Amino acid sequence: MARRLPGHDAVRGEAIEVRIADVSVRAFPDESIAAAAIASGTRVLARSLKYHRPRTFFCFEGHCSGCLVRLSGVPNLRACQAMCTAGAEVEGQNAFPSAEVDLLGAVDFLFSRGMDHHTLMTGSSVLNRLANKVVRQLSGLGKLPDRPPRELPDIAPRTVDVCVIGGGPAGLAAATATARAGRSTIVIDDQLRPGGSLRADPRTGRRAAETSVAAATAAGVEVLARSTAIGYFPEDDGGVLAVSAPDRLYRIHAASWIWATGGYPVNLPFPDNDRPGVLAARAVGRLLVDHGILGGDRVCIVEVPEVAEDAAALADALYQAGAEVVRIALGNANGTRGRSWVSALDTPNGKVECDLVAVAGIPAPASEGPRQQGCKVVLDPAAGGFRVVVDEHGRTSAPGVWACGDVTGYVGPAAAAEQGARVGMNVATRGFGYRRSVAGKIVLCRCEDVTLADLEHCVSRGYCDIEEVKRYTGFGTGPCQGKECLAAVASQLASLTDQPPAAIPPFTSRPPLAPTPLKMLAKDPAAHRFADDREPALDRGKPAPRPPGPRESLRDDPERGRGG
Ligand code: FES
Repeated sequence: MARRLPGHDAVRGEAIEVRIADVSVRAFPDESIAAAAIASGTRVLARSLKYHRPRTFFCFEGHCSGCLVRLSGVPNLRACQAMCTAGAEVEGQNAFPSAEVDLLGAVDFLFSRGMDHHTLMTGSSVLNRLANKVVRQLSGLGKLPDRPPRELPDIAPRTVDVCVIGGGPAGLAAATATARAGRSTIVIDDQLRPGGSLRADPRTGRRAAETSVAAATAAGVEVLARSTAIGYFPEDDGGVLAVSAPDRLYRIHAASWIWATGGYPVNLPFPDNDRPGVLAARAVGRLLVDHGILGGDRVCIVEVPEVAEDAAALADALYQAGAEVVRIALGNANGTRGRSWVSALDTPNGKVECDLVAVAGIPAPASEGPRQQGCKVVLDPAAGGFRVVVDEHGRTSAPGVWACGDVTGYVGPAAAAEQGARVGMNVATRGFGYRRSVAGKIVLCRCEDVTLADLEHCVSRGYCDIEEVKRYTGFGTGPCQGKECLAAVASQLASLTDQPPAAIPPFTSRPPLAPTPLKMLAKDPAAHRFADDREPALDRGKPAPRPPGPRESLRDDPERGRGG
């Protein structure tokens, strides 16, 4: 049974009351609704969409859908990302009459082997019509809000040198480094309090998180907490990141971007792994470290070998806090038992009684934002999923975009902080060789209207050779023939592709060197020399094409010839 640890410094201030499923529970203003709920013994918050299986908290980071509730009349809010306020009313969703006792849970029982809802009751048209009506009533998540919003949030444009997405160990360290180097820096963090995995790992803890935040703000970093990067729009003013904050929408332009979004806690595959009481190990750590709540008295940690050290640290901390802890390899987890909350874990050696299962898997890199910005990712199971590919400096494949920490593959909080500091230094010293078109166009080739954004786009498509860039963007093909733009484009290309300038050759120079009226050449017997038959630059170094043989001539091909 979860309980607050007496004397934990996370529990501060006057206790307040919130109502969860019509029951008044004690809470504190600096904790989330989910923390108050689990500490007060609330078990089920909602039901799943299809089978109405019980749902409740899993990640405690706002990244799963387990804790969606109706909060003071507003549906589909995540209880783990909503602060407790006095008098808040929390109701379960997607259940009748309540999340704990849901009559529609019969669906799970009736279709114990699952159901294909596409073909449900399609044998009879009458039954099918009836089924459609029922299904339409039951589908959807939550009910509309009691009241429409009275005010729409403001839009706030911001322009900074460096935008760091993610306020965990890597992001805070990177931001501190860039700010100390004099770069205006903003950190976007979607959690109630910045600090990321520092707040969930007993080896670092809440104080380490607060020290890192304090260091960042002392260096001049602006930290936007409870703010979520919701999309990157490359076509908008040279690239804008939309950020949803509690009271406004930020439109952020930055010269350099650092993705430090970390990784998502994942569930592990074993039978009935969705039973309430199965939590991410990091959530169990977060409850303990950040909220001073011991999630259970008898805890089974189901783990994979890649995170054995983390699991050991969590097991030790839980034990120190008074829990009995058993560590079980994933291969030995044969399923959970329990009604509305886990009561045991089956293993090959028998049943292990428990009141909490902590699942320790490799966090999945949170790489969807970098992907939207054009960064290359690669599926790497050992790194937890699709990790962002970076070079030794932390550069991604997208110009001006960097990444560090677990989003590049799981490394854990301490290594992530080191990596973040290093990448921050690199951004501060190397990331400003060029400037993104933060507002308006930076034109590199005036003849052909080629902008810096065009060049960045070209490089992001993989065209990094000066000849390819010329063909893709058209720079150097206008009236000046590259006189004005070649050096500018070549220098920017060196910066964007992190090559020394000496490695960038000029494109092939061809006559005429200046725009020339054709009549000037009309009578010159040597004018044919202007018909340029030299080897195309893109073909340089490739084997010369074979002259067509007898069968390669269209005229001599009997099949083609017959068809006329
Ligand atoms: S989203 Fe709240 S527990 Fe996962």
